[in-house]
Amino acid sequence: MTDIKEILKEYSTRFNAEIAPLFDGANGPEARVVEAMKYSVMNGGKRLRPYLVYETAGLFGKTFAQSFHAAVSLEMLHSYSLIHDDLPAMDNDDLRRGKPTCHKQFDEATAILAGDGLLTYAFEILAKADYSADVKIELIRLLSQGAGAFKGMVAGQMLDLYAEKISQPENPLTLISHIEEMKTGCLLSYACQAGAVLGGANADERKSLVDYSRKIGIAFQIADDILDAEGDPQLVGKTLKKDKDQNKLTFVSCYGVEKARRISADLITQAIEIVSVFGNKGENLQALARFIIERKF
Ligand code: IPE
Ligand code: IPE
Ligand code: MG
Ligand code: MG
Ligand code: MG
Repeated sequence: MTDIKEILKEYSTRFNAEIAPLFDGANGPEARVVEAMKYSVMNGGKRLRPYLVYETAGLFGKTFAQSFHAAVSLEMLHSYSLIHDDLPAMDNDDLRRGKPTCHKQFDEATAILAGDGLLTYAFEILAKADYSADVKIELIRLLSQGAGAFKGMVAGQMLDLYAEKISQPENPLTLISHIEEMKTGCLLSYACQAGAVLGGANADERKSLVDYSRKIGIAFQIADDILDAEGDPQLVGKTLKKDKDQNKLTFVSCYGVEKARRISADLITQAIEIVSVFGNKGENLQALARFIIERKF
């Protein structure tokens, strides 16, 4: 049985060591924003998205170093999304990854700028990567779309805030699926697509990875929503039961924990089946899919 937690830990240790120097070199009073960026990235995230880039590129023989720039740019972008998600104007959270959120540790204006800085840095890192021009352009296109305001993460965040304000949505299941697909699914999907692009996957392989990512994306957010409802605050590292307080529309608010758990388990069964086309090479992706719904943090 694959011990995916161990694998993820090993990957994170290596990844963290490689990204720390990327925050070196800032001087003067403006270095405060880089300090806030570093604080928010180097604070113990699971590194699930970079690991997904690495693992999917690995299906096609790509190494840690070959997937690194795509992986790190995605984690920078993800960390920006968390800083802004925690701001008083959005979810108003004081704790992230067990530590004060960026705006609590620094101040609100610095947190906004740290988010802007990370978003921009993500694309700088990608643009400087040692990939062919074609690969870079494709990655930049996919990342900007996945993170963006039309059908990407920003659109999902907008819809998440909109849904807080309406008491009885007409079709809650459609709305919640749409929110979770966009706010969370799009970046997880990008991770798998980046692996496919780096690895030169053929159309069928790429489709399998996209289908897999869509299933795990929704299941990942359902797991997050379940952890918010009944997780252990020490392990989760966030203030819990906030979704209910803030009237968030989630699978848990629509169906309750038990049914939400069943929905996520079905999605994970489908995800595991989808990547069975990769044979033994897909085992870690299958284990990761299980971890996504079994995790306690
Ligand atoms: C949290 O993502 C935000 C969601 C999309 C639910 P993660 O649970 O991956 O957060 P970190 O990076 O491990 O802190
Ligand atoms: C956030 O979803 C998704 C992002 C795009 C950051 P949540 O608001 O549920 O994430 P947490 O629970 O604060 O990590
Ligand atoms: Mg939110
Ligand atoms: Mg939040
Ligand atoms: Mg949440």
